[in-house]
Amino acid sequence: QELQINLEQIEKGGYDHFMLKEIHEQPKAIRDTYRGRLLRNEAIIKMAGVEDNMKKFLNANRIIIVACGTSWHAGLVAEYIFEDLARIPVEVEYASEFRYRNPVITENDVLIAISQSGETADTLAAIKLAKSKGAFVFGVCNVVGSSIARESDAGAYTHAGPEIGVASTKAFTTQITVLSLIALRLSRAKGTISSSDFRHHLLELEMIPKKVEQALKSDAHIKKIADIYKNVSNFLYLGRGYNFPVALEGALKLKEISYIHAEGYPAAEMKHGPIALIDENMPIVVIATKKGHYEKVVSNIQEIKSRKGKIIGIVTEGDIQVRDLADHVIEVPESLDSLSPLLTTIPLQLLSYHIAVLLNKNVDQPRNLAKSVTVE
Ligand code: G6P
Repeated sequence: QELQINLEQIEKGGYDHFMLKEIHEQPKAIRDTYRGRLLRNEAIIKMAGVEDNMKKFLNANRIIIVACGTSWHAGLVAEYIFEDLARIPVEVEYASEFRYRNPVITENDVLIAISQSGETADTLAAIKLAKSKGAFVFGVCNVVGSSIARESDAGAYTHAGPEIGVASTKAFTTQITVLSLIALRLSRAKGTISSSDFRHHLLELEMIPKKVEQALKSDAHIKKIADIYKNVSNFLYLGRGYNFPVALEGALKLKEISYIHAEGYPAAEMKHGPIALIDENMPIVVIATKKGHYEKVVSNIQEIKSRKGKIIGIVTEGDIQVRDLADHVIEVPESLDSLSPLLTTIPLQLLSYHIAVLLNKNVDQPRNLAKSVTVE
């Protein structure tokens, strides 16, 4: 027993929980994921799984992304990147819905399955279905040799390293990293991005690990915010564009480990429902980075403020406007809009972590949840 405990402590590498360790591993995990693939000096992206199947990608009518949970949120971010940069139509589907709804799949479809474990039953079933209809299946998995990795026609691994905490953190950011690399490679091949923009993206992506390190420095500040709101029963998370899926992921993290009800919403949809919930007891996390429809988000924040909601703004370093309106701001370094989810996600992971710890919850093994859902 004692030996077991000690082993676990060693595995946690000095952190109180695996989740916190994995949150802090993200700079390295992201770097490991683009290493050998992002070659900035040569201005190329090298990914064998994409290169060998370039025709399939370029001739695709559309890309269908299937996944569950946090991986599905990474898929939503990818939808924005693929459409924005590579101009390929994308649909993102919950694997569990896709497999049972008699979807239209043709030989000209590319299906990307995203899964940390590579063992999620619904995702595995979805790719088997797509394969049986002749679609080309590309897997984005973390676990090498997993079922989904083996069933896929080709793929690219995320190099996040083992993720032990049930609530996914570094798997999410490395999935976005891989999907960004693929989108950039395809946009170069299609000519939908200029060579200077492409180089700029490579440079910005290469700088992400340093910026994640910077974002992690807000830890103590976030802990204080967590302490103020730990006893509320509802949270709302808002974001637009690239950061709408981040709002969903932030809400999911909070639900998973602190058992506080939280909803993620596109900021502009707020007026079609959630606004009715806003009063002085309701904390609302708003992602309001400079490049992502900033002015629109600011006006959403004003709407919240006039209803006395408590505003926690995730803002770009040096922001003044939101700071004036919000009850709290958490800064992240500036980056490209398309890469901002890799940064804005960090404070949301830390916020849910600290709330769960303050509430004495089992952070690494939340009730009723499994790391990998291998049954329906
Ligand atoms: C479970 C885990 C989540 C994960 C989801 C999908 O619900 O608790 O953290 O996002 O499964 O798992 P996958 O391994 O397919 O990414």
